[in-house]
Amino acid sequence: MSTPAHAMRPGREFDLSGKVVLLTGACGQIGSEAADAFAAHGAFVVVTDVGDAARLEDQARDLRARHADARAIGLELDVTSAESVAAAFVAVAEEFGRVDVLVNNAAIDAKFDGSVGAIEPARFESYPLELWERSVAVNLTGLMRVTQAALQVMLPQGSGNIVNVGSSYGVVSPNQALYATDLAQERRYKPVDYVGTKSAIANLTRYWATLYAREGIRCNCLVPHGIDNAHDERFRQNFASLSPIGRMCAVEELRGPFVFLASDASSYMTGSALVVDGGWTAW
Ligand SMILES: NC(=O)c1ccc[n+]([C@@H]2O[C@H](COP(=O)([O-])OP(=O)(O)OC[C@H]3O[C@@H](n4cnc5c(N)ncnc54)[C@H](O)[C@@H]3O)[C@@H](O)[C@H]2O)c1
Repeated sequence: MSTPAHAMRPGREFDLSGKVVLLTGACGQIGSEAADAFAAHGAFVVVTDVGDAARLEDQARDLRARHADARAIGLELDVTSAESVAAAFVAVAEEFGRVDVLVNNAAIDAKFDGSVGAIEPARFESYPLELWERSVAVNLTGLMRVTQAALQVMLPQGSGNIVNVGSSYGVVSPNQALYATDLAQERRYKPVDYVGTKSAIANLTRYWATLYAREGIRCNCLVPHGIDNAHDERFRQNFASLSPIGRMCAVEELRGPFVFLASDASSYMTGSALVVDGGWTAW
């Protein structure tokens, strides 16, 4: 077997210099933080998201301004569109000629923080299946489409690293008490589409990890939980009382885990889940 990647650069295990990292859903709360962390560790970052090319170019320009030596580009990439995915990978090939790390971060995730419209309040028995199909199209089929495109580049390279962004709700069921409100008639539920798609991602990670392990490709899953955003006080209190660590996760606390999985520091990890949940799934 070849020498482990980290052994070749002792002391620089977390260095991403020269690695091309393509990130989906990069305009979101977690994606924009991860993109900045990758650039800070020397990566060439390809920030992609659905729509709004100007916003993506601004984000890439900001990364270049904040980090010396950063080569960042912004590209539209709608994971539900084969044409969009193909065009983005052609553009990456022209700019960088390779893809070292794919971060599958884009997802539809019903939010309770007031930032992304109203949550669908229906319980499972009356949950609209159109919403399930919409989430499957983005969170699963879209993730597969981008992963196939990346593997078409990584397999000929003989190396590659896929980081899937999963969720604690791919490990345990949501505790619906977290989403309770004072008023019974406003009872809200974390919906089934998110739980179902994130559960599948956990095992797809193992599928790809084992399928490609002998061809230089790694695949792991980052499992975040409860990222602090514009949540109301009631939600925060609920969260704190149910969480072992007693607080929500600051988005900056995902920087290290993302860099760890993207870098040679995790070179012996594949098929794993890195759980960053303040102990949520531990009891
Ligand atoms: N926020 C949390 O507490 C939390 C917890 C666990 C896991 N996660 C996961 O982290 C990831 C990022 O979540 P976030 O909180 O930053 O959400 P977010 O809504 O802020 O970002 C999601 C991004 O995905 C993009 N997206 C949606 N549809 C797309 C499509 N068709 N093609 C390309 N991009 C598309 C959106 O435009 C958005 O920028 C998701 O996979 C989510 O499931 C989040």
